[in-house]
Amino acid sequence: SRNIRLAVIPGDGIGTEVVAEGLKVLEAVGTKIEPTHYDLGAARYHRTGETLPDAVLDELRGYDAILLGAIGDPSVPPGILERDLLLRLRFAFDHYVNLRPVKLFPGVATPLAGTPTENIDMVVVREGTEGLYAGTGGVMRRGTPHEIATQESLNTAHGVERVVRYAFEKAKARPRRKLTLVHKTNVLTFAGDLWQRTVNRVAEEYPEVSTDYCHIDAASMFFVTQPERFDVVVTDNLFGDIITDLGAAIAGGIGLAASGNINPEGAAPSMFEPVHGSAPDIAGQGKADPTATILSVSMLLDHLGLHDEAARVERAVAADIAERGAGRSTQQIGDDITARVSG
Ligand code: IPM
Ligand code: MN
Repeated sequence: SRNIRLAVIPGDGIGTEVVAEGLKVLEAVGTKIEPTHYDLGAARYHRTGETLPDAVLDELRGYDAILLGAIGDPSVPPGILERDLLLRLRFAFDHYVNLRPVKLFPGVATPLAGTPTENIDMVVVREGTEGLYAGTGGVMRRGTPHEIATQESLNTAHGVERVVRYAFEKAKARPRRKLTLVHKTNVLTFAGDLWQRTVNRVAEEYPEVSTDYCHIDAASMFFVTQPERFDVVVTDNLFGDIITDLGAAIAGGIGLAASGNINPEGAAPSMFEPVHGSAPDIAGQGKADPTATILSVSMLLDHLGLHDEAARVERAVAADIAERGAGRSTQQIGDDITARVSG
Protein backbone atom coordinates (compact mmCIF):
# COMPACT_ATOMS: atom_id res chain seq x y z
CA SER A 1 0.00 0.00 0.00
CA ARG A 2 1.01 3.60 -0.44
CA ASN A 3 2.84 5.74 2.07
CA ILE A 4 0.67 8.03 4.15
CA ARG A 5 2.19 11.46 4.41
CA LEU A 6 1.15 12.56 7.86
CA ALA A 7 1.69 15.95 9.46
CA VAL A 8 1.86 15.68 13.24
CA ILE A 9 1.09 18.65 15.47
CA PRO A 10 1.49 17.46 19.07
CA GLY A 11 0.79 20.99 20.37
CA ASP A 12 0.64 21.83 24.05
CA GLY A 13 0.40 20.09 27.41
CA ILE A 14 -0.68 16.47 27.22
CA GLY A 15 -0.90 16.81 23.43
CA THR A 16 2.68 15.55 23.00
CA GLU A 17 2.10 12.58 25.32
CA VAL A 18 -1.09 11.32 23.70
CA VAL A 19 0.13 11.87 20.15
CA ALA A 20 3.19 9.70 20.81
CA GLU A 21 0.86 6.81 21.68
CA GLY A 22 -1.37 7.47 18.69
CA LEU A 23 1.65 7.21 16.40
CA LYS A 24 2.74 3.97 18.05
CA VAL A 25 -0.61 2.43 17.23
CA LEU A 26 -0.55 3.80 13.71
CA GLU A 27 2.79 2.15 13.08
CA ALA A 28 1.69 -1.13 14.65
CA VAL A 29 -1.33 -1.40 12.37
CA GLY A 30 1.01 -1.95 9.45
CA THR A 31 0.39 1.21 7.48
CA LYS A 32 3.40 2.80 5.89
CA ILE A 33 3.45 6.26 7.33
CA GLU A 34 5.84 9.10 6.95
CA PRO A 35 5.24 11.39 9.92
CA THR A 36 6.59 14.94 9.94
CA HIS A 37 6.41 16.83 13.21
CA TYR A 38 5.48 20.51 13.44
CA ASP A 39 6.24 22.38 16.65
CA LEU A 40 3.23 24.67 16.67
CA GLY A 41 1.70 25.81 19.93
CA ALA A 42 2.56 27.79 23.04
CA ALA A 43 6.31 27.06 23.07
CA ARG A 44 6.77 28.29 19.50
CA TYR A 45 4.61 31.32 20.20
CA HIS A 46 6.76 32.31 23.18
CA ARG A 47 9.98 31.67 21.28
CA THR A 48 9.16 33.42 18.01
CA GLY A 49 5.78 35.13 18.37
CA GLU A 50 4.42 32.90 15.61
CA THR A 51 1.22 30.90 15.79
CA LEU A 52 0.87 29.50 12.28
CA PRO A 53 3.19 31.06 9.70
CA ASP A 54 1.74 31.20 6.16
CA ALA A 55 4.61 29.10 4.85
CA VAL A 56 3.78 26.32 7.34
CA LEU A 57 0.11 26.48 6.44
CA ASP A 58 1.01 26.07 2.76
CA GLU A 59 3.27 23.15 3.54
CA LEU A 60 0.59 21.42 5.62
CA ARG A 61 -1.73 21.56 2.62
CA GLY A 62 0.42 18.93 0.92
CA TYR A 63 -0.16 16.14 3.45
CA ASP A 64 -2.65 13.27 3.31
CA ALA A 65 -3.83 14.00 6.84
CA ILE A 66 -2.96 15.80 10.05
CA LEU A 67 -2.83 14.35 13.56
CA LEU A 68 -3.18 16.99 16.25
CA GLY A 69 -2.78 16.60 20.01
CA ALA A 70 -4.08 19.68 21.81
CA ILE A 71 -3.72 23.42 21.55
CA GLY A 72 -3.84 25.94 24.39
CA ASP A 73 -1.80 26.99 27.39
CA PRO A 74 -2.54 29.24 30.38
CA SER A 75 0.64 31.24 29.64
CA VAL A 76 -0.92 32.53 26.40
CA PRO A 77 -3.91 34.89 26.56
CA PRO A 78 -7.14 33.04 25.66
CA GLY A 79 -8.06 33.13 21.99
CA ILE A 80 -4.63 33.57 20.41
CA LEU A 81 -3.68 29.95 19.88
CA GLU A 82 -7.28 28.85 19.56
CA ARG A 83 -8.17 31.34 16.85
CA ASP A 84 -4.86 31.79 15.04
CA LEU A 85 -3.78 28.18 15.08
CA LEU A 86 -6.57 25.66 15.63
CA LEU A 87 -9.47 27.55 14.06
CA ARG A 88 -7.23 28.88 11.32
CA LEU A 89 -6.40 25.31 10.31
CA ARG A 90 -10.07 24.30 10.38
CA PHE A 91 -11.07 27.32 8.29
CA ALA A 92 -8.14 27.30 5.86
CA PHE A 93 -8.61 23.62 5.08
CA ASP A 94 -12.38 24.01 4.94
CA HIS A 95 -13.06 21.37 7.59
CA TYR A 96 -16.76 21.90 7.34
CA VAL A 97 -17.53 18.59 9.00
CA ASN A 98 -16.43 18.19 12.58
CA LEU A 99 -17.27 14.55 13.14
CA ARG A 100 -17.65 13.45 16.74
CA PRO A 101 -18.85 9.95 17.54
CA VAL A 102 -20.56 9.46 20.90
CA LYS A 103 -20.39 5.76 21.58
CA LEU A 104 -20.46 3.91 24.86
CA PHE A 105 -18.04 0.99 24.77
CA PRO A 106 -18.92 -2.09 26.85
CA GLY A 107 -17.19 -1.92 30.21
CA VAL A 108 -17.12 1.86 30.42
CA ALA A 109 -18.69 3.44 33.46
CA THR A 110 -21.15 6.08 32.31
CA PRO A 111 -22.69 8.49 34.80
CA LEU A 112 -26.02 7.37 33.32
CA ALA A 113 -26.16 4.35 35.60
CA GLY A 114 -28.07 1.41 34.18
CA THR A 115 -28.08 2.67 30.59
CA PRO A 116 -27.52 -0.24 28.20
CA THR A 117 -24.40 0.20 26.09
CA GLU A 118 -26.32 0.10 22.83
CA ASN A 119 -28.43 3.08 23.87
CA ILE A 120 -25.50 5.46 23.47
CA ASP A 121 -24.33 5.14 19.90
CA MET A 122 -24.59 8.29 17.87
CA VAL A 123 -22.46 10.54 15.78
CA VAL A 124 -22.57 14.31 16.00
CA VAL A 125 -21.92 16.14 12.74
CA ARG A 126 -20.87 19.56 13.95
CA GLU A 127 -20.49 22.29 11.35
CA GLY A 128 -16.87 23.46 11.48
CA THR A 129 -16.33 26.64 9.52
CA GLU A 130 -19.21 29.02 10.24
CA GLY A 131 -21.65 30.00 12.98
CA LEU A 132 -20.47 31.94 16.00
CA TYR A 133 -16.93 30.80 15.28
CA ALA A 134 -16.74 32.98 12.18
CA GLY A 135 -15.45 35.83 14.31
CA THR A 136 -17.75 38.53 13.00
CA GLY A 137 -19.01 41.21 15.30
CA GLY A 138 -17.15 43.79 17.26
CA VAL A 139 -16.86 45.94 20.31
CA MET A 140 -17.63 49.59 20.93
CA ARG A 141 -16.66 51.78 23.90
CA ARG A 142 -14.51 48.98 25.27
CA GLY A 143 -13.75 49.27 28.97
CA THR A 144 -16.46 51.82 29.59
CA PRO A 145 -19.76 51.22 31.38
CA HIS A 146 -21.36 51.61 27.96
CA GLU A 147 -19.41 48.85 26.27
CA ILE A 148 -21.29 46.98 23.56
CA ALA A 149 -19.98 43.65 22.32
CA THR A 150 -21.61 41.82 19.45
CA GLN A 151 -20.70 38.38 18.16
CA GLU A 152 -22.56 37.21 15.13
CA SER A 153 -23.43 33.76 13.87
CA LEU A 154 -22.65 33.39 10.19
CA ASN A 155 -24.74 30.83 8.31
CA THR A 156 -24.61 30.50 4.54
CA ALA A 157 -26.91 28.43 2.35
CA HIS A 158 -23.83 26.76 0.87
CA GLY A 159 -22.25 26.10 4.26
CA VAL A 160 -25.40 24.68 5.80
CA GLU A 161 -26.36 22.57 2.82
CA ARG A 162 -23.01 20.82 2.48
CA VAL A 163 -22.87 19.76 6.11
CA VAL A 164 -26.53 18.71 6.12
CA ARG A 165 -25.90 16.58 3.01
CA TYR A 166 -22.93 14.94 4.70
CA ALA A 167 -25.10 14.16 7.73
CA PHE A 168 -27.81 12.59 5.57
CA GLU A 169 -25.20 10.40 3.86
CA LYS A 170 -23.94 9.29 7.28
CA ALA A 171 -27.46 8.57 8.48
CA LYS A 172 -28.24 6.57 5.34
CA ALA A 173 -25.24 4.33 5.99
CA ARG A 174 -26.15 3.56 9.60
CA PRO A 175 -28.62 0.89 10.66
CA ARG A 176 -31.11 3.22 12.35
CA ARG A 177 -31.10 5.81 9.56
CA LYS A 178 -32.20 8.69 11.71
CA LEU A 179 -31.13 12.30 11.53
CA THR A 180 -31.86 14.89 14.19
CA LEU A 181 -31.33 18.58 13.60
CA VAL A 182 -30.38 20.29 16.84
CA HIS A 183 -30.78 24.07 16.92
CA LYS A 184 -32.77 26.81 18.60
CA THR A 185 -35.24 27.73 15.88
CA ASN A 186 -37.66 29.27 18.35
CA VAL A 187 -35.22 32.07 19.19
CA LEU A 188 -32.54 32.09 16.48
CA THR A 189 -35.17 32.63 13.84
CA PHE A 190 -32.97 33.62 10.88
CA ALA A 191 -30.30 30.96 11.22
CA GLY A 192 -32.69 28.33 12.55
CA ASP A 193 -35.02 28.85 9.61
CA LEU A 194 -32.17 28.34 7.14
CA TRP A 195 -31.08 25.14 8.88
CA GLN A 196 -34.61 23.75 9.12
CA ARG A 197 -35.53 24.55 5.51
CA THR A 198 -32.27 23.01 4.34
CA VAL A 199 -32.92 19.81 6.27
CA ASN A 200 -36.48 19.63 4.96
CA ARG A 201 -35.37 20.10 1.38
CA VAL A 202 -32.48 17.64 1.45
CA ALA A 203 -34.68 15.12 3.31
CA GLU A 204 -36.76 14.71 0.15
CA GLU A 205 -33.73 13.08 -1.46
CA TYR A 206 -33.36 10.65 1.45
CA PRO A 207 -36.75 8.97 1.92
CA GLU A 208 -35.05 6.10 3.80
CA VAL A 209 -33.79 8.47 6.51
CA SER A 210 -36.21 9.63 9.18
CA THR A 211 -35.70 13.19 10.32
CA ASP A 212 -36.38 14.80 13.63
CA TYR A 213 -35.81 18.18 15.25
CA CYS A 214 -34.77 19.02 18.79
CA HIS A 215 -34.02 22.36 20.43
CA ILE A 216 -30.48 22.51 21.88
CA ASP A 217 -31.75 22.88 25.44
CA ALA A 218 -34.07 19.91 25.18
CA ALA A 219 -31.38 17.92 23.36
CA SER A 220 -29.03 18.52 26.28
CA MET A 221 -31.62 17.00 28.56
CA PHE A 222 -32.35 14.07 26.22
CA PHE A 223 -28.63 13.27 25.83
CA VAL A 224 -28.82 12.39 29.51
CA THR A 225 -32.34 11.04 29.92
CA GLN A 226 -32.95 9.37 26.53
CA PRO A 227 -29.68 9.09 24.59
CA GLU A 228 -31.25 6.34 22.46
CA ARG A 229 -33.25 9.06 20.70
CA PHE A 230 -30.16 10.05 18.73
CA ASP A 231 -28.44 8.39 15.80
CA VAL A 232 -26.93 11.15 13.63
CA VAL A 233 -27.13 14.67 15.04
CA VAL A 234 -26.44 17.65 12.79
CA THR A 235 -25.92 21.05 14.34
CA ASP A 236 -24.04 24.32 14.09
CA ASN A 237 -20.53 25.04 15.30
CA LEU A 238 -21.16 26.27 18.85
CA PHE A 239 -24.09 23.99 19.70
CA GLY A 240 -21.95 21.13 18.39
CA ASP A 241 -19.01 22.21 20.52
CA ILE A 242 -21.07 22.20 23.68
CA ILE A 243 -23.17 19.12 23.08
CA THR A 244 -20.13 16.99 22.23
CA ASP A 245 -18.60 17.68 25.62
CA LEU A 246 -21.87 16.43 27.07
CA GLY A 247 -21.64 13.51 24.65
CA ALA A 248 -18.15 12.75 25.90
CA ALA A 249 -19.40 12.81 29.48
CA ILE A 250 -22.15 10.25 28.88
CA ALA A 251 -19.84 7.98 26.88
CA GLY A 252 -17.13 7.62 29.50
CA GLY A 253 -15.47 10.98 29.66
CA ILE A 254 -13.23 13.24 27.69
CA GLY A 255 -10.40 10.68 27.75
CA LEU A 256 -12.28 8.59 25.20
CA ALA A 257 -13.80 11.21 22.88
CA ALA A 258 -12.36 11.31 19.35
CA SER A 259 -12.93 13.69 16.49
CA GLY A 260 -12.20 14.39 12.87
CA ASN A 261 -12.11 17.80 11.20
CA ILE A 262 -13.02 16.67 7.75
CA ASN A 263 -12.83 18.09 4.28
CA PRO A 264 -15.00 15.43 2.62
CA GLU A 265 -13.94 16.28 -0.93
CA GLY A 266 -10.26 15.86 -0.05
CA ALA A 267 -9.47 19.35 -1.34
CA ALA A 268 -7.26 19.79 1.73
CA PRO A 269 -5.99 17.40 4.40
CA SER A 270 -8.41 16.41 7.12
CA MET A 271 -7.27 16.71 10.71
CA PHE A 272 -7.87 14.28 13.53
CA GLU A 273 -7.69 15.20 17.20
CA PRO A 274 -8.99 14.16 20.60
CA VAL A 275 -11.88 16.35 21.77
CA HIS A 276 -10.03 17.10 25.01
CA GLY A 277 -7.71 20.03 25.52
CA SER A 278 -4.10 20.33 26.64
CA ALA A 279 -4.88 19.71 30.35
CA PRO A 280 -1.91 21.71 31.71
CA ASP A 281 -2.73 20.53 35.25
CA ILE A 282 -1.68 16.96 34.44
CA ALA A 283 0.79 17.61 31.62
CA GLY A 284 4.10 15.80 31.70
CA GLN A 285 3.01 13.31 34.33
CA GLY A 286 1.97 10.37 32.17
CA LYS A 287 -1.56 10.60 33.52
CA ALA A 288 -3.44 11.45 30.33
CA ASP A 289 -5.53 8.78 28.66
CA PRO A 290 -4.32 8.41 25.04
CA THR A 291 -7.45 6.47 24.06
CA ALA A 292 -9.21 9.50 22.54
CA THR A 293 -6.19 10.11 20.31
CA ILE A 294 -5.98 6.43 19.37
CA LEU A 295 -9.67 6.44 18.42
CA SER A 296 -8.98 9.58 16.39
CA VAL A 297 -6.25 7.61 14.61
CA SER A 298 -8.88 4.99 13.79
CA MET A 299 -11.03 7.76 12.27
CA LEU A 300 -8.00 8.96 10.31
CA LEU A 301 -7.42 5.50 8.85
CA ASP A 302 -11.08 5.22 7.96
CA HIS A 303 -11.00 8.59 6.24
CA LEU A 304 -8.02 7.48 4.14
CA GLY A 305 -9.95 4.41 3.02
CA LEU A 306 -8.04 2.00 5.26
CA HIS A 307 -11.25 0.55 6.70
CA ASP A 308 -9.84 -2.77 7.92
CA GLU A 309 -7.00 -1.03 9.72
CA ALA A 310 -9.45 1.45 11.25
CA ALA A 311 -11.65 -1.38 12.49
CA ARG A 312 -8.66 -3.20 13.96
CA VAL A 313 -7.67 -0.15 15.97
CA GLU A 314 -11.22 0.32 17.21
CA ARG A 315 -11.47 -3.35 18.20
CA ALA A 316 -8.16 -3.11 20.07
CA VAL A 317 -9.44 -0.08 21.95
CA ALA A 318 -12.73 -1.83 22.74
CA ALA A 319 -10.87 -4.88 24.08
CA ASP A 320 -8.57 -2.69 26.14
CA ILE A 321 -11.49 -0.74 27.57
CA ALA A 322 -13.38 -3.92 28.43
CA GLU A 323 -10.51 -5.10 30.62
CA ARG A 324 -9.02 -1.89 31.88
CA GLY A 325 -8.02 -1.45 35.46
CA ALA A 326 -6.98 1.77 37.11
CA GLY A 327 -3.54 3.26 37.45
CA ARG A 328 -1.95 2.70 34.05
CA SER A 329 0.22 5.45 32.64
CA THR A 330 -0.31 7.11 29.26
CA GLN A 331 2.48 4.98 27.86
CA GLN A 332 1.18 1.74 29.35
CA ILE A 333 -2.26 2.26 27.83
CA GLY A 334 -0.61 3.02 24.49
CA ASP A 335 1.58 -0.07 24.75
CA ASP A 336 -1.35 -2.31 25.72
CA ILE A 337 -3.47 -1.14 22.79
CA THR A 338 -0.47 -1.38 20.44
CA ALA A 339 0.08 -4.99 21.53
CA ARG A 340 -3.53 -5.84 20.73
CA VAL A 341 -3.27 -4.18 17.32
CA SER A 342 -0.11 -6.06 16.39
CA GLY A 343 -1.13 -9.38 17.97
C1 IPM B 1 -13.01 21.82 20.57
C2 IPM B 1 -12.40 22.94 21.37
C3 IPM B 1 -12.18 24.13 20.46
C4 IPM B 1 -13.52 24.54 19.92
C5 IPM B 1 -11.46 25.33 21.12
C6 IPM B 1 -10.15 24.92 21.73
C7 IPM B 1 -11.27 26.47 20.15
O1 IPM B 1 -13.22 23.25 22.44
O2 IPM B 1 -12.33 21.33 19.67
O3 IPM B 1 -14.12 21.40 20.86
O4 IPM B 1 -14.25 25.32 20.56
O5 IPM B 1 -13.87 24.08 18.83
MN1 MN C 1 -14.97 21.96 22.63
